[in-house]
Amino acid sequence: MTSVMVVGGGGREHAIVWKLAQSQDVAAVVCVPGNGGTALLDKSKVKNVALPLSDFAAIADLARAEKSDLIVVGPDNPLADGIVDYLEGQGLTVFGPTREQARLEWSKTYAKQKMIDLGLPTARFYSTGSLEDALAFIAKAENSWARVVKADGLALGKGVFVCDNEDQVKEALRTIFGGGFGAAGEIVVLEEKLVGEELSLLCVSDGKTLLELGCAQDHKRRFAGDVGPNTGGMGAYTPVPLYDNAAVAARIRSEVLAPIGAALAGGRLSFKGVLFIGLMIDAAGAPYILEFNARLGDPETQAILPRLKSDLLPLLLSCTNGTLAGTVLNWSDMASVCISVVTREYPAKSSSGEPVTVEVSAAERRGEAIVFHAGTRLQALNGAETLVTAGGRVFSAVGLGKSMAEARQAAEDAVDKIHFETKDFRTDIGWRALEQCVSK
Ligand code: AMP
Ligand code: GLY
Repeated sequence: MTSVMVVGGGGREHAIVWKLAQSQDVAAVVCVPGNGGTALLDKSKVKNVALPLSDFAAIADLARAEKSDLIVVGPDNPLADGIVDYLEGQGLTVFGPTREQARLEWSKTYAKQKMIDLGLPTARFYSTGSLEDALAFIAKAENSWARVVKADGLALGKGVFVCDNEDQVKEALRTIFGGGFGAAGEIVVLEEKLVGEELSLLCVSDGKTLLELGCAQDHKRRFAGDVGPNTGGMGAYTPVPLYDNAAVAARIRSEVLAPIGAALAGGRLSFKGVLFIGLMIDAAGAPYILEFNARLGDPETQAILPRLKSDLLPLLLSCTNGTLAGTVLNWSDMASVCISVVTREYPAKSSSGEPVTVEVSAAERRGEAIVFHAGTRLQALNGAETLVTAGGRVFSAVGLGKSMAEARQAAEDAVDKIHFETKDFRTDIGWRALEQCVSK
């Protein structure tokens, strides 16, 4: 029997813990720090331990005390800070990339250069550490393609400005170089603006082989109709009709996945863990890589894992010991829709301490909905434990159904049973898929 530790406390980590806890081979899961949802799982198997994610020594001590056979790291920051290097250095088994491998996520300049070196399709770019240089670059007529401005480092998904004209580009440059993003904004990447439909393609690697884990479409904008500020994700759905298009999938496999797989096998790319490939597919069906992430997506994971029939444990273990080749995963043919339940003022402000109640929906009783917690915690109040908010994204309500419409209905049923004063959510998650189904 296996004992597992999951590092992180969002909806993604609740989904990972939920899935691992179903494995017949998992005896115990320790969540560091977990959230209100993981605290409510089967207490004989799952427990939360509050430790700062920056305290690698304390995490290693806990893993030894809990006899953790596998540590799964969810969020980007500890990966960029070298948590995997530290824990592996202590003789522990970890699913996730080293700091150097995770550079594909924490330096956009590095990632773009790697894409060019490996011959992967991506937008043109120019990278610089100087505002004057950037302004001089965009002032040249031949560089008028540069309309996307990105902070080089990790910026909670907020460091990207997609502009319509040169004035907006200048403003974005001044914002980033002005220091609003700290060290993440010391270098700026200027990129060609691409137009098309986005896909999040999640893959896993053991360092030699690349295996597709799933494809989802995220809804980054705050409000229905894909308007408003970018957020960490207002919802996601899978499968994505665009990826079910055989011609599009074939191009992604031959132009993106095959060269990455060959680079891994040939030693030109070193990576293990989750390689999250953010793609833009243009009107002609050509794929372009927008970004790499070195971890599972949030909320993509909450939509994808409920469709995975195979045990997650052997998959993660095979990525740590180089035995991923030949793995075949089994998937449910149900569609899945994940709705992020957020606070009204998210993403500008988060919420803390607001009382929350969650009733079991009919869809959940039928096994067609799952409520993953994100920003919640259990708080002792008058001797009883109550659930309260602890962040801007509070829940990920997932619905499953034979069609995307049924899946969204199931997710909405679950959302209806979640109550807190500032609750808000988007009512149009999966709209592209639904429109395509209607027009078929
Ligand atoms: P990133 O963090 O690099 O994925 O960027 C965040 C979001 O900005 C993406 O999901 C896209 O919606 C948008 N974006 C990023 N790069 C580009 C680009 N080159 N062209 C158009 N939109 C982009
Ligand atoms: N949903 C996008 C991300 O996890 O970065």
